[in-house]
Amino acid sequence: MEHWEKAAVRNQTSLALLNSVQSVIIAIGITALMLLAADQVVKGKMTVGDLVLVNVFMIQLYMPLHFLGFVYREIRHALADMEKMFSLLHEDREIADAPNATTLQVGNAAVQFEHVSFAYAPDRKILFDVSFAIPAGHTVAVVGASGAGKSTLSRLLFRFYDVQQGRISINGQDIRGVTQTSLRAVIGIVPQDTVLFNDTIYYNIAYGRPGAAREEIIAAAHSAHIHDFIESLPQGYDSMVGERGLKLSGGEKQRVAIARAILKNPAILIFDEATSALDSKSEKAIQAELRAIAQNRTTLVIAHRLSTVVDADQILVMDQGKIAERGTHRELLARNQLYAQMWDLQKQEEHVQPAY
Ligand SMILES: Nc1ncnc2c1ncn2[C@@H]1O[C@H](COP(=O)(O)OP(=O)(O)OP(=O)(O)O)[C@@H](O)[C@H]1O
Ligand SMILES: [Mg+2]
Repeated sequence: MEHWEKAAVRNQTSLALLNSVQSVIIAIGITALMLLAADQVVKGKMTVGDLVLVNVFMIQLYMPLHFLGFVYREIRHALADMEKMFSLLHEDREIADAPNATTLQVGNAAVQFEHVSFAYAPDRKILFDVSFAIPAGHTVAVVGASGAGKSTLSRLLFRFYDVQQGRISINGQDIRGVTQTSLRAVIGIVPQDTVLFNDTIYYNIAYGRPGAAREEIIAAAHSAHIHDFIESLPQGYDSMVGERGLKLSGGEKQRVAIARAILKNPAILIFDEATSALDSKSEKAIQAELRAIAQNRTTLVIAHRLSTVVDADQILVMDQGKIAERGTHRELLARNQLYAQMWDLQKQEEHVQPAY
């Protein structure tokens, strides 16, 4: 910004200088010519009409010249902008649709990860041979330490990146073989960090499904337990949320994201720490709502708080990019390993909590 500011000031200064020098030259020129012409009139060599003629000629000639500096600057500006635009147009998309990509047929939305290995950068592998399946209509939960690669699973399913080994399929179709538009249309996600647009709350919820009716948007806001909050704002649904949603609290942003996902009404749902920023009471209320929404939908839940995933059909415990354990809550407790340790730890914390 500092650099830009300096350049802008220099630009304006040079333009002002150019304009004033131009004006001075023109003024001197006109004055000199008028003096000459006047002299000729006095000597009787020119008529008064000739003097007027000279004056008009001068003005006609100089006015366009005067604009030249301005036009020059505008042209330079436009050329620089054009250059930028063309370099943007030449930017390759990281993930492109296959030339023969088909539309995803999502009859029963079963999701399958088969021996998936993945790295963001070649020198650091994040996922190692991850395999699991979410049968249509079932819920699979992923838990594990921070940085284990949980959110990466959701990014891969959304195809923000392509896997390096193995394959991910929905209803038997490899997601690399279908169009991204059709893939993303069937997946609703409540991401770990919600990004909102600098627009109204209404717009941000409606973004889940462009073209939704106002009643549907309000119903979604009700389900996400954010309607009352929105109504309490002076501008209600027309309140602006600020750049990236900075005028909302973390929990409010999360609830907008939940409303978005509810509105989208997708076949596959991903909740990535969807309620992590909420207080226990709101979390309980929304969890019940989310459970109702997830009913009969293929759902991937990522959570830190284990109490929110106890009733998942299967729980995957991730550790450093691998699935360390899998099973239902009861089975995992019975194994008495990683999951059981995490569970005990969180139970202890809950007991400590009333102290403060
Ligand atoms: N865009 C990226 N480029 C390079 N490395 C990344 C990128 N995104 C994530 N990582 C790395 O991948 C690893 C897994 O990240 P991921 O977001 O999947 O973790 P997570 O299990 O969701 O953790 P958390 O519970 O903290 O959300 C992390 O070590 C992280 O540093
Ligand atoms: Mg994460």
